[in-house]
This record gives sequence, structure tokens and C-alpha cells, in this order.
Amino acid sequence: MKPLTDGYKKAAAEKALDLVQDGMLVGLGSGTTARFFTEGLGRRVAKGMKVRGVPTSRATAELAAGLGIPILTELVGQIDLSVDGADEVDPALNLIKGRGGALSREKLVAAASKRFVVVVDDSKLVKQLGAGVLPVEVLPFLWRSTAERLTALGVSLVLRGGEEVPYVTDNGNLILDVTVDGGIKNPADFGFELKKVTGVVEHGLFVDMTDTVIVAGPEGPKAIGRPSGTARTA
Ligand code: 5RP
Repeated sequence: MKPLTDGYKKAAAEKALDLVQDGMLVGLGSGTTARFFTEGLGRRVAKGMKVRGVPTSRATAELAAGLGIPILTELVGQIDLSVDGADEVDPALNLIKGRGGALSREKLVAAASKRFVVVVDDSKLVKQLGAGVLPVEVLPFLWRSTAERLTALGVSLVLRGGEEVPYVTDNGNLILDVTVDGGIKNPADFGFELKKVTGVVEHGLFVDMTDTVIVAGPEGPKAIGRPSGTARTA
């Protein structure tokens, strides 16, 4: 039997499909929730809808191509709408992403989007980010030195996949899964600290990037907008 969360993920993804209009350029996220969205978009394309997709991973590119969704991997201008999953969502709609390893491309696509919509089941809502690991993508060259510099920030970390068979991202990089004791109190500041570490390509904190979160639980999907008075800055 499929876990209940799969139904919630699908419900959230399907509500996001209502936002897609004919002619749009659509950012396609990665992970199991985003997959439901891409599959739904494929069904619409099969019925004649004209959209093009910008995939956030090779896996999503293959999925979309198989569903007949035309794919773009270069871009001038903006993406109309992007829909992606998340690992954690806080009350300000800041996110942790990247447990699927696609965080760098996901962030590039979100940053290039007029509207960034996140689809999650209700288990992803947290009061403070950092309950689980924060993925950080690093260059393989001298990665142990990068890991030491990160550890000096007071965090602990592990190399995803382990040293024998490390996980390699679509960009040919490694992932360090970072644990912050007590959680991440200021995601914006912590994100800046991480970005300053030489060797870090990108981190999974998405601060001030989300326009809408569609969250689904036992009561069905509902859309949460940005807290009033706050504007997206990233
Ligand atoms: C991949 C991601 C995913 O969006 C995130 O891990 C959520 O995945 P899922 O929808 O499978 O729970 O950031 O890099």
C-alpha cells in the first residue's frame, strides 16, 4: 500500500497544475512531489496544451521528454511559473531543499521564475528550518578542506553516499549533508556564511524565494501566500 503522504503530495501537485496556462514556460522541479506535477503537465500536453519546461535535473528532463513536454535548458528572460517540492518549509516560506541532490539547478530555476510555487505534504511544515540535514553542494577538488572550513562554522556534516561511493550531482559535484545543532535560527545569515566558504557551489537554503506554498494533508490541499507585508527578494 502507498503511504498516505503520496496522496497528499499528489493532491498538492495537482492543485498547482491549475496555475498553468497555455503558452507558459514552466520550471519543473525534482523529487517525488514535483514528479506528480510533471506527470500531470504531461497529461495536459497530451490533450493539446502548449507549454515548454525547464527541468531542474536530468531525471526530470528525461521524465518530461518521455511525456512529450518540450524542454529548454538555456534561457533568456524569465520562466513564467516554477513548481518544485521541498524538504522543510518554515512560516516565512523559507525552505530547505536538496535531499534529492538537485538543489543548485532548482535554485537557478526558482531565481529565474516570475512565480515560484512549492508543493508539499503537511509533514514538511516546520517552525524552524534545520530539523533535518541541510544539503550543501561542493566541488570534488579538495572537498575535505571545504568540509573543514564548513565544520569551523560549528556544524557537523557527512559526505552523502560515503567516501567509497559518494553521491555525484548532475553538475559532477559532491553533497555534504550538514547538521546544525538546535536548528537554523537565521536562515538568511546562515546562507550567506555558507556561500562565503570557498569550495561551496550552492546550499539548500532557499530564503525569500517562495511566492506560494501548496500544502496538502487530511483536509485537502491549501495555498499559503507570503506573510502579509513581505515581498520576495531573491
Ligand atoms: C530535490 C528536492 C526535492 O524537491 C525535495 O527533496 C522534496 O522531495 P520529495 O518531493 O520527494 O519529498 O529538493 O533536490
